[in-house]
Amino acid sequence: MTSKVKPIAKDMGIERRREDQPEERLMGRVIACDGGYATVAALASEASDDASSFWSIGRLISIAVGQNRVVGMVYKLNAADARWEDQQFNTIHAEIELVGEIRSSDSGELEFSRGIATYPPLGSVAHRIRSKDLMAVHLRHENRSMVIGTLSQDEQIPATVDIDNMLSRHFAIVGTTGTGKSTALALLMRKCLEVHPELRIMLFDPHNEFSTAFPDKANVLTADTLELPFWLFQHDEFAEVIFRGREGVQEEVDALRELIPEARARFGAKQANGSKLVRRSVDAGNISADTPLPYRMTDLFAIIEDEIGQLEGRHDRTVLKSLKTRLEALVNDPRYRFMFSARTVDDNMADVMGTLFRIPLNDRPITCLQLAGVPSEVVNSVISVLCRMAFDLAMWSNGTCGVLVVCEEAHRYVPQDPRLGFGPTRHSIARIAKEGRKYGVHLGVVTQRPGELDPTILSQCSTIFSLRLANDLDQEIIRSAISDSSASTISFLSSIGNREAIAFGEGIPTPMRMKFEELKTEFLPGSPIYDMPEHLEGHAPQVNLGSIISRMRGNHIRDDNRADGQAA
Ligand SMILES: Nc1ncnc2c1ncn2[C@@H]1O[C@H](COP(=O)(O)OP(=O)(O)O)[C@@H](O)[C@H]1O
Ligand SMILES: [Mg+2]
Repeated sequence: MTSKVKPIAKDMGIERRREDQPEERLMGRVIACDGGYATVAALASEASDDASSFWSIGRLISIAVGQNRVVGMVYKLNAADARWEDQQFNTIHAEIELVGEIRSSDSGELEFSRGIATYPPLGSVAHRIRSKDLMAVHLRHENRSMVIGTLSQDEQIPATVDIDNMLSRHFAIVGTTGTGKSTALALLMRKCLEVHPELRIMLFDPHNEFSTAFPDKANVLTADTLELPFWLFQHDEFAEVIFRGREGVQEEVDALRELIPEARARFGAKQANGSKLVRRSVDAGNISADTPLPYRMTDLFAIIEDEIGQLEGRHDRTVLKSLKTRLEALVNDPRYRFMFSARTVDDNMADVMGTLFRIPLNDRPITCLQLAGVPSEVVNSVISVLCRMAFDLAMWSNGTCGVLVVCEEAHRYVPQDPRLGFGPTRHSIARIAKEGRKYGVHLGVVTQRPGELDPTILSQCSTIFSLRLANDLDQEIIRSAISDSSASTISFLSSIGNREAIAFGEGIPTPMRMKFEELKTEFLPGSPIYDMPEHLEGHAPQVNLGSIISRMRGNHIRDDNRADGQAA
């Protein structure tokens, strides 16, 4: 079917029609109606004909019913007797899903409402929707509506999204690789910031591609610059880093759970003595393995050593020795420097959170966390910690520090298969999805495989932008996400073009097929690492193996620090 769109005359509301074309060609008549759906019989000539191209999948049409117009979307087309004669008019049957009704108010304004008061009687005339009506459907005058593109049906008509609704009930962008998800995300994030300059955004960027998209708005953190002290990790998050889901380490996990509170208490006590301040007494009983109070690894090691030296220790010596060996390996592993880099352990939680969550904003409301350089076995824990902190920050600030958490490639962190992924990550993202609304924590998920994403997460995303989906299962998932009455709207999900999307849900006036507006080249997401400098194009780039090996060994961080004059 053609999807060629002919721009409608600038003077909206006036149908442009060639004088010599019979009226019939632009019209059809209702021959069946069953409440939600109608069938329209119409005459059409070749598919390339402008006049007939409005009988095309995904188009809105209108049916005159008294003073009102019932609006419907074409979702299926048949030649009436399964034949097509060239050079003639053929009868076609268009299956229409009824999406709402347009009424003129007393003041003469057009009002669109979902739901239909009067159904079209048989024989009612169906015709191309007027531009004014299309405007009325898509431009409901809500104050926070933002234009994000144009309707595929009529490029003169803006496609809008209600940012507040979209944020508060979470959103998802799905689509096959290369269809424009990341670009759409960058576009939506910009629109959100236009409406809410005070919004903080935590973006998980698994391909390191968004630093180019927000040169003006993002504070980019890499594996080298991320600072996430180990003592901010809760017990199960820390255990994931140490044991990486290994079996048969339960005794070590349990020992760690008992020893960490002691290390926290020891550090707290030293702090209180050292500063000679009258402090709230540090009571080990109030401290759990999850309390975000600092501790020193040296204290933890000393406590483990003490335990090992005791005759009647609580834990098996081999267990403790094994635990200590693992911890030492971790602390010395350059890839985990972001957790253990601080030369002295301070209670710098305010600095860490301030940097991560942009307090103050400093004109850069986005934290773009590049995850490509973070060891994959630790990405889960990092995301778990950050999502939990985002939620806690919003909750303990009584909603004054709202955060939008955006997960690209979300199916990696919250996979559909409960055996995969990491429990605490799933839990902290699910908590945002389920309860975030109360505190102003919003979730945006992006995935090319909605079928592999935890369905409970997707079901909490009330606004969905579905770009092209090739996989049947994925299409089925999205089809079931849209309300029953609109399911036919997305029957053509496999065939839409790049940058095009079917958008539906809370933030969207009515399910629509739309094309995202063009994002300026300088703000396109892209991978700066693999971009060949212009002068090298066509030439093999110089490879400095020495510096690569140095990076692999983690020496570059020390070098950088020295250059900054802050050598250890
Ligand atoms: N809204 C848009 N404006 C401009 N270019 C776009 C837009 N959407 C997609 N593109 C182009 O398509 C390419 C692929 O888009 P991308 O967002 O990376 O897809 P995905 O994330 O789905 O793999 C981009 O590099 C860009 O050139
Ligand atoms: Mg992408």
